[in-house]
Amino acid sequence: GLLDQKMKAKGKRYFGTALDAWHLSGSDQSNIKMIAGADFGAITHENSLKWDAVQPQQGNYQFGNADAVVNWATSNNRLLRGHTLVWHSQLPQWVHNINSASQLTQVIQNHINTVMGRYRGRIYAWDVVNEVFEENGTFRNSVFYRLLGENFIDIAFRAARNADPNAKLYINDYNLDGPGPKIDAMIALIGRLRSRGVPIDGVGTQAHLILGQVGGVQSQLQRLAGTGLDVAITELDIRIQTPVTAQKLDQQYSDYQTVTRACLNVPRCVGISVWGISDKHSWVDSTFPSYDAPLLWDDWFNRKNAYWGVDNALN
Ligand code: G3I
Repeated sequence: GLLDQKMKAKGKRYFGTALDAWHLSGSDQSNIKMIAGADFGAITHENSLKWDAVQPQQGNYQFGNADAVVNWATSNNRLLRGHTLVWHSQLPQWVHNINSASQLTQVIQNHINTVMGRYRGRIYAWDVVNEVFEENGTFRNSVFYRLLGENFIDIAFRAARNADPNAKLYINDYNLDGPGPKIDAMIALIGRLRSRGVPIDGVGTQAHLILGQVGGVQSQLQRLAGTGLDVAITELDIRIQTPVTAQKLDQQYSDYQTVTRACLNVPRCVGISVWGISDKHSWVDSTFPSYDAPLLWDDWFNRKNAYWGVDNALN
């Protein structure tokens, strides 16, 4: 791939994107397959590996959509990032309802064994736990934290190492792009995990960014790398407050260039994944109605200035 090839020429592992089965079978599949084939060396399932997708009822596993993405990626020689095993969101009601610590421990272990075991050897890195912190740096009030305390994280990583010893195991979160209590808490947690011997290899910073607010990315990436782990930018997008103007699209070129350079400048940064291909399919539209156009291709699958910002950083 073009961006991916250039990224590898800089000594990184990949330049990747998020995809789901419906992208590969829907009406835009030819554009998507052409672009994913040309530019991206790593694929993350946008939704279809999440708990509610793969184990909607206890013991009832549904792997059709997840398999479709894994099969496309492996037959096209792409790396896969597995997203995600233990997360408070897109978690089925039966898990929220569990009220015994020992039962929850078993449920976490079974889920991780089954899901990671199915793809053993085929997924480069997993987001083992996702979004465990509130903005103020306290732990999020999830069923996992209520019943098990911080130990749910240890349980998940130990189960993950056991299920696929060769996969890189990540903790992943958002709003780690600037200084503050959240990134402080993440760095402190990683220190505790490592001192307890918990098997963890990487920290992912999602990087759901806002136009004009990308200046802190490199220094925070450097701080995350200071933990001794690999770091990855896992879900990059840079949303624009409407109305989207030519001037803002130029600013987006320079913001994408800045973020790409941040990874290049931090030796432990292994790669960048953007959170989708075309603005047409981005999660931003429905979640932030007054923002738009966060990705590298426009609604008609034309490359935007933002694409050339990444490309320029990689030249
Ligand atoms: O699958 C149902 C479908 O059956 C139903 O008919 C339809 C009606 O709304 O909803 C479908 O579920 C949607 C799901 O995506 C699959 O398309 C949910 O409503 C929708 O909320 C969900 O959004 C996803 C979101 O995570 C949920 O938290 C986004 O696509 C996905 O991009 C987003 O990704 C997250 C990362 O996993 C973690 N970091 C933040 C990032 C952005 O929120």
